[in-house]
Amino acid sequence: MGSATTERLIPLAATLISLILIHSTPAISSLASPTSYEVLDDNNFPAGLLPDGISSYDLNITTGQFSVHFNRTCRFSLQNSYHLKYKPTFNGYISNGKLSSLKGVYVRVFLVWREIEEIVRREDDLVFSMRISSYVFPIDYFEERPQCQCVLKCGGGQASKET
Ligand SMILES: *[C@@H]1O[C@H](CO)[C@@H](O)[C@H](O)[C@H]1NC(C)=O
Ligand SMILES: *[C@@H]1O[C@H](CO)[C@@H](O)[C@H](O)[C@H]1NC(C)=O
Repeated sequence: MGSATTERLIPLAATLISLILIHSTPAISSLASPTSYEVLDDNNFPAGLLPDGISSYDLNITTGQFSVHFNRTCRFSLQNSYHLKYKPTFNGYISNGKLSSLKGVYVRVFLVWREIEEIVRREDDLVFSMRISSYVFPIDYFEERPQCQCVLKCGGGQASKET
């Protein structure tokens, strides 16, 4: 055993250890509790698909089954033209580029709320599918997280005319 070998091994071991530390730290911290916005990002969806104000969510990482909870029905508009609505609890399954079996997400089409069943990422678009039709929105519409809007009253009062 020459001492020259030992000297070369030590820096190598030190480099390996620091590489392992650098690489494992972010993984560990994001495993601890990714936010719902990080879950979207991991699945190739923009964070703006979910408005601000989520109170909690559950995710089964094996099946992708999730549910998201707001304190009240959340409505917001895209580009001041398209209206979306999330029930206080909505759920479905998430996988890479696909949200399926959705329950509790609606888009307003000619004054009628229609439930969205699936949202699929198709290159730079998001395709929202309903039972007999679909909407295609550019992903840029979802760059920023929208705010839930108040319908007449915020807070205590029941939103009236909730359809
Ligand atoms: C939702 O309600 C819970 C319990 O009333 C409260 O602690 C929490 O701050 C609320 N969250 C938001 C985003 O308003
Ligand atoms: C995830 O779902 C599977 C299948 O329904 C179930 O067996 C498992 O217990 C669930 N895991 C968690 C953490 O709930």
